[in-house]
Amino acid sequence: MRTEIDDLRALIRHHERKYYIENRPEISDAEFDVLMKELEALESASDAPIPPDSPTQRVGGGAVLGTRIQHRNPMLSLNNGYNPQELREFDERVRRLLEDAPVEYVTELKIDGLGVSLIYENGVFTRGLTRGDGEYGEDITDNLRTIRSVPLRIPVETETTFPRVLEVRGEVFLPKDRLNNINAQREVEGEPPFANPRNAAAGSLRLQDASITASRPLDIFIYTLNYAEGVEFATHTASIELMKRWGLKCNLHTDCHQSIADVQNYYEHWVAKRHDLPYETDGVVVKVNEFSHQNELGATSKYPRWAIAYKFNAQQAITTIKDIEVQVGRTGVLTPVAILEPVTLAGATITNATLHNAQEIETKDIRIRDRIVLERAGDVIPKIVEVLTADRTGDEVVFVFPDRCPVCDTPVHRSEAEVAVRCVNVACVAQLKRQIAHYASRNALQIEGLGPATIAQLVDKELVRDVAELYTLEVEPLSKLDRMGVPSASNLVHQIEQSKTAPVEKVLFGLGIFHVGETVAELLIENFSSLDALSHAKPEDIESVNGIGPQIAESVVNFFSQNQPLLDKLREAGLRCFTVKAEDLSTKANLTTDSFFSGKTFVVTGSLEGMTRTEASKEIKARGGKVTSSVTSKTDYLIAGEGAGSKYTKAVELNIPILTEADFFQKL
Ligand code: IVH
Repeated sequence: MRTEIDDLRALIRHHERKYYIENRPEISDAEFDVLMKELEALESASDAPIPPDSPTQRVGGGAVLGTRIQHRNPMLSLNNGYNPQELREFDERVRRLLEDAPVEYVTELKIDGLGVSLIYENGVFTRGLTRGDGEYGEDITDNLRTIRSVPLRIPVETETTFPRVLEVRGEVFLPKDRLNNINAQREVEGEPPFANPRNAAAGSLRLQDASITASRPLDIFIYTLNYAEGVEFATHTASIELMKRWGLKCNLHTDCHQSIADVQNYYEHWVAKRHDLPYETDGVVVKVNEFSHQNELGATSKYPRWAIAYKFNAQQAITTIKDIEVQVGRTGVLTPVAILEPVTLAGATITNATLHNAQEIETKDIRIRDRIVLERAGDVIPKIVEVLTADRTGDEVVFVFPDRCPVCDTPVHRSEAEVAVRCVNVACVAQLKRQIAHYASRNALQIEGLGPATIAQLVDKELVRDVAELYTLEVEPLSKLDRMGVPSASNLVHQIEQSKTAPVEKVLFGLGIFHVGETVAELLIENFSSLDALSHAKPEDIESVNGIGPQIAESVVNFFSQNQPLLDKLREAGLRCFTVKAEDLSTKANLTTDSFFSGKTFVVTGSLEGMTRTEASKEIKARGGKVTSSVTSKTDYLIAGEGAGSKYTKAVELNIPILTEADFFQKL
């Protein structure tokens, strides 16, 4: 029997849907509040238990976070495309795999938030999960309940075909304009600001206290009907229509296209218009509409073959240059850096941007206090693409490049041949700090625990005057450094000791000789075997090595002519490469024949976050694997980073297993 309370709940649900989901309120906020108050009063006066899907029950008890729950089927990610060519390749592959059947594409906005799964049982919202690792998600039901556009109940009674169990998936996000309010509040409370709406959404959904989540104006767009017991639907668009009828909030900017050219038009429309949207989007999702086609195309372990995220490329932001500072690099090069009014760009807070060199500043006429357009494409570091000269007020200050090193005050050297300005003082502490950091870095001597803060103290306190003096460090004085202590100090001494066994090519690279990168260092050692032999080589001997030009040769000869004392100190410190044959210390000697990689052939594509492709290849080779440049039936694995394109497609076609960067690191 329907009671007054039931009717009131149904009425409030109706208005929630009108307001939060359809954006078409029928009553004012004040009228809505009156209804809610009335319901609260009736519920507290009644002895009947309050059902969890009552509109008053959005903020329940404390959220139980951390329970990992397996998804019904994996929540896959999307493969990315960045240009028309990659979109066409996607289309070609789809058509080929579907043997030229007519294909219809659906395009949607790619919402920049947090992917979630919502489960309804008999129309009642019973469980919500994060995407997690795709296989298992985290239970965030209580926090999701606080989102007003997540219906706690779907009006089953009006639907004859309503599924007993329903699972939908969507993106929780924070509207753009809300971030500023939240950050202002966080500042008052002494919390660090959220860098972008996505972090704000993710942070809010994982709070232990659902009432704080409730205070964050989160919103949701549902984009997948993942499971609906007993309900048939033939296309993605039909499933969206069904979900909208059930009162789920789906994005309205969804279109259907018969050709990939139309998809490109949709994309271009949103490239221009996306900034007008009240939420962040980072691309367009293109999906094959027919479910029969989707099933035929299937998925790899990570991505469906029937969809692609066609990402918006460079994102731009406007900000102001507060100041221009000059940093001194490892080889003494002075690099001007613009200190910016912090700005969010492509998901990160940007506080500075390199200006490369004096010439760049001059050509672009960049001045302190200028308003500028900043751009960031993919993983690339942000760059200043334009100065908004029309915004100049006259307060801008022309930057004068220093004549002296800002760290050691030595007059700088400007060479005719290159644009770089250098500090030529080899004892400049700024250079020394960077040299030590380079020497200790992962691809050189790999000394863990020697970070910039420790290096700065070692140099400033004159405990280390060159890289060889690292080997004189002892636990006691080290432990007295800030944030050190005996355990860290003895660990560091141990790490430094360990580095003595590094292969000679790593030591050569670690010396930081101008123009001698990892590959050149390897090449030189392949030809000269030892540092001693190389240090006595004449320029013409070095130049005769295939792949080495006169500039490198000159740089190497110069370095060794000036740094024999350093070499002697390293020898005395006990670096093994001075006494042991190169092959015996080489990483190749550590090849483990039983490693995952040994005897297998790999192709590396796309950009990896943690290392370059060359580094990845080396790691594979060091473990006995082979790396080739093109995907063929002989390839055992493709390692695909961000933006992987045609090689990825080829691997999918040939059914070659694909490792993500995370998979690859795990295998390493
Ligand atoms: S479809 C297997 N549609 O983007 C299909 N995802 O980078 C996967 N996303 O994990 C989802 N907007 O969290 C789809 N309209 C949209 C989307 C969308 C945002 C997110 C989603 C996914 C991620 C992949």
